[in-house]
Amino acid sequence: MKIAFAKIGRPKKGAVVASVLEGGKLSPTAAALDKENGGLIGKAIAASRFTGKAHQSLTVFTPAGRVLLYGLGDPTKLDPQWAEAAGGGIYAALASSGEKEAAVVMDRDDAGCAERAAHVALGAVLRSYRFDKYRTTMKKEDRPTLEKLTFMVKDHAEAKKLYDVEAAIAEGVAFTRDLVSEPPNVLYPESFAEHCVALKKLGVDVEVLGEKEMAKLGMGALLGVGQGSRRESKMVVMRWNGGAKGDQPVAFVGKGVCFDTGGISIKPAGGMEDMKFDMGGAGVVSGLMKALAGRKAKANVIGVIGLVENMPDGNAQRPSDVVTSMSGQTIEIINTDAEGRLVLADALWYTQDKYKPAFMVDLATLTGAMMVSLGEETCGYFANDDKLSDALKAAGDAVAEPMWRMPLGDAYNKQMDSDIADMKNAGPRWGGAITAACFLERFVDKTPWIHMDIAGVAWSRKDRSTTPKGASGFGVRALDRLVRDYVEKA
Ligand code: BES
Ligand code: MN
Ligand code: ZN
Repeated sequence: MKIAFAKIGRPKKGAVVASVLEGGKLSPTAAALDKENGGLIGKAIAASRFTGKAHQSLTVFTPAGRVLLYGLGDPTKLDPQWAEAAGGGIYAALASSGEKEAAVVMDRDDAGCAERAAHVALGAVLRSYRFDKYRTTMKKEDRPTLEKLTFMVKDHAEAKKLYDVEAAIAEGVAFTRDLVSEPPNVLYPESFAEHCVALKKLGVDVEVLGEKEMAKLGMGALLGVGQGSRRESKMVVMRWNGGAKGDQPVAFVGKGVCFDTGGISIKPAGGMEDMKFDMGGAGVVSGLMKALAGRKAKANVIGVIGLVENMPDGNAQRPSDVVTSMSGQTIEIINTDAEGRLVLADALWYTQDKYKPAFMVDLATLTGAMMVSLGEETCGYFANDDKLSDALKAAGDAVAEPMWRMPLGDAYNKQMDSDIADMKNAGPRWGGAITAACFLERFVDKTPWIHMDIAGVAWSRKDRSTTPKGASGFGVRALDRLVRDYVEKA
């Protein structure tokens, strides 16, 4: 969808979007339209349940065309999160309306108007995402009609400038959503790595390790997961050097299980198709690198993703196998379906050992238990550092990606001890998201570290304000914000 910014006026074609405050007070544009049309707007509002409450909308047709009234709600609460939700709401109301174009007239000319317009535009673009490449019979009349949104606002040049930064982040989110949406016969470790290599165009350094290189490094935990697959396991290291030369980097590490059958501890058939999303953590790391490069972030950032396919096969690993991780620690495999932590064990160790980052954040669709804990609304995370934890929480709140800190601790950690090796890969049933995090913590030295279990939030089963149903890209925006506020501003 095309996004443009222009000065306040009356659009020559297409729909007009005008605002109404809670209680029904019309914006200047809505009031003018009302007057020109003999009180039509006021009558339409009176005949409806529209009151101007935040994110309510009402369509009114005047002889000159469609008017979408959009509820501002409380004018003291027009923050960026409101603006993004409004952009999503406006897009959703117009997407399949038949209109090709619309102009959003933002009459309020307060100090925050340019920033607000940029966030409304961002919300609309995020909501307009679609993954249609495998539809060959979809009729034109079933596709969205809206092609262009113009935002009319006082500081339109400033709004455009601010939006250009947000647009780079939206492209990162779209990259993540594309990767997560792809079916696993198309997106497997090698083809995933190729998508990352394409980021070189944006100035990202990309290095791909194959099984031979990983074996040499001693990554027995990651390689054990992939050994039942016909596809070669890969590790991709992406580097964005936007900071000062020699500045310590920060690192993001992603679980990239391109498909998780469970392996020999095979999953039940019902719902197994969802497990194409099990590379979601790697998808977020890749999208984040694209966003950071796209907006030329002034920071040195490493993205590491472990790419495997977890398949049952004559060569697959067995429950009771013992593998040796790159850290030297041994792991007894209790359940081959607890594979993500094995991939991350080596990816985290490698990242820490080789790049000595100021902090590491890993992301993984790691446990069903996290979905039981927090559902699909909030991302649970674990941290060994309070300052980093607070910064992530604040970043999430700023972009409406809610985060909730979960506990670590010895009482949980010791449940991962094995009778035969240094640890086992699966603990008891209760607290499964926490014991999984404790397992990961055994592969982190003193580096400040966060583990985000995105199992519940990586995929949305319903439309949300800025996320259509499907792959969400949850995490890209929060982590971009963490880099902005906690790294670049520091
Ligand atoms: N990828 C799954 C986690 C998952 C399951 C995410 C369902 C979203 C929905 C992970 O690899 C897994 O299978 N975890 C097991 C761990 C258990 C065997 C200790 C789980 O959560 O059941
Ligand atoms: Mn699994
Ligand atoms: Zn998995």
